[in-house]
Amino acid sequence: MNAFVVYLSIMKTTIQTISKTNPTKEELQTAAGILQNGGLVAFPTETVYGLGGNGLRADAAKKIYEAKGRPSDNPLIIHIADIESLSRLTDSIPEKARILAEKFWPGPLTMIFPKSSQVPYGTTGGLDTVAVRMPSHPAALALIRESGVLIAAPSANTSGRPSPTKASHVKEDLDGKIDLILDGGTVGIGIESTIVDMTQEPPMILRPGYITKEMLEETIGTVTIDKAILSKADSSLKPKAPGMKYKHYAPKGDLTIYDGAGDIVVSYIAARAKKELAAGRTVGIIATEESLELYKKAFSAAGCTLPEEGPLSLKVIGSRKDEASIAHSLYSLLRDFDSAGTQIILSEGFSSDQLGQAIMNRLLKAAGYQIIHLKEGECYHE
Ligand code: TXA
Ligand code: MG
Repeated sequence: MNAFVVYLSIMKTTIQTISKTNPTKEELQTAAGILQNGGLVAFPTETVYGLGGNGLRADAAKKIYEAKGRPSDNPLIIHIADIESLSRLTDSIPEKARILAEKFWPGPLTMIFPKSSQVPYGTTGGLDTVAVRMPSHPAALALIRESGVLIAAPSANTSGRPSPTKASHVKEDLDGKIDLILDGGTVGIGIESTIVDMTQEPPMILRPGYITKEMLEETIGTVTIDKAILSKADSSLKPKAPGMKYKHYAPKGDLTIYDGAGDIVVSYIAARAKKELAAGRTVGIIATEESLELYKKAFSAAGCTLPEEGPLSLKVIGSRKDEASIAHSLYSLLRDFDSAGTQIILSEGFSSDQLGQAIMNRLLKAAGYQIIHLKEGECYHE
């Protein structure tokens, strides 16, 4: 057999730390240069890490899709640092959008507008509309300003995996595929921005996020919500944000949600966990501060601690009294289960209003919509 050599063009990805609060010109110089030359830089935002490229250059957008392995019909969000830049991206800014921008920008809100001729179809996945967001993270804002580039940035994960909330997550997925990762530590919010379509009246939420329906309605009155958001991806309802139709945010393990009153949920999850362990599979449980004691009882572990590592690992995601703590840890926890090779992941459900709506939207997608609703007095068999 003839020996031959295959040359792989693997890019070297540099990781550079950047101040969370007050990034300097020097810290931004390399990143700005890469963006100006059409390259890719991952950077922190207040929601999740973004994979940035020049939003007004189709060739940069193409590189983003390649690095993420993302279907090219799934449009990108363009990030701006001042309200004036919005008029480069759209010729039509409705009054309600101005009011929302005034109230929530910079911040975790993305708005959809008809696109201007300056925005290439390569960035919008062929759509005549464009998604725009002004992030509040000081490093993100400073990077846009320093580079003079309006940055198209999807979440900086491989398509389908949980979004990255720290630089090490980005490295896991994109090492060797992008030029630079700016490491600004762990992000604050932990789930992606709320997306609102301003091209329809009343405006419609296409993806729930930290800015809730209630917060939007307090500001501009009635807002609708895309019905497809909380329903199965293969149902007849087609989500209006193309990205929401893909299986998404998914860990490698098989995730099931058990929804219902706390004690019933815990007893079902504990029973399932024991069955899976007996069959030789590794099990991860997503618990809350409220359910931890119930789990200890269910595993007859009074007085001892349930391990965070090992064949059975129980991780506390946060407190139900503070849903932001749950949003903050969700993706990171799913990635931790992936790193440990956990095969079966069992989670309790969360309320589906306010921030809970965004959490359940991501959790349902991560679970491929495997959810078991438990009611008091009913018997279930698996
Ligand atoms: O918080 C965030 O929004 C993060 C950070 C990095 O800013 N970005 C983010 O981008 O989550 P990405 O690409 O992962 O998600 C963008 C979503 C996708 O579901 C996409 O389909 C939708 O926005 N989208 C983008 N442009 C759209 C448009 N013109 N019409 C409808 N949906 C759009
Ligand atoms: Mg994403």
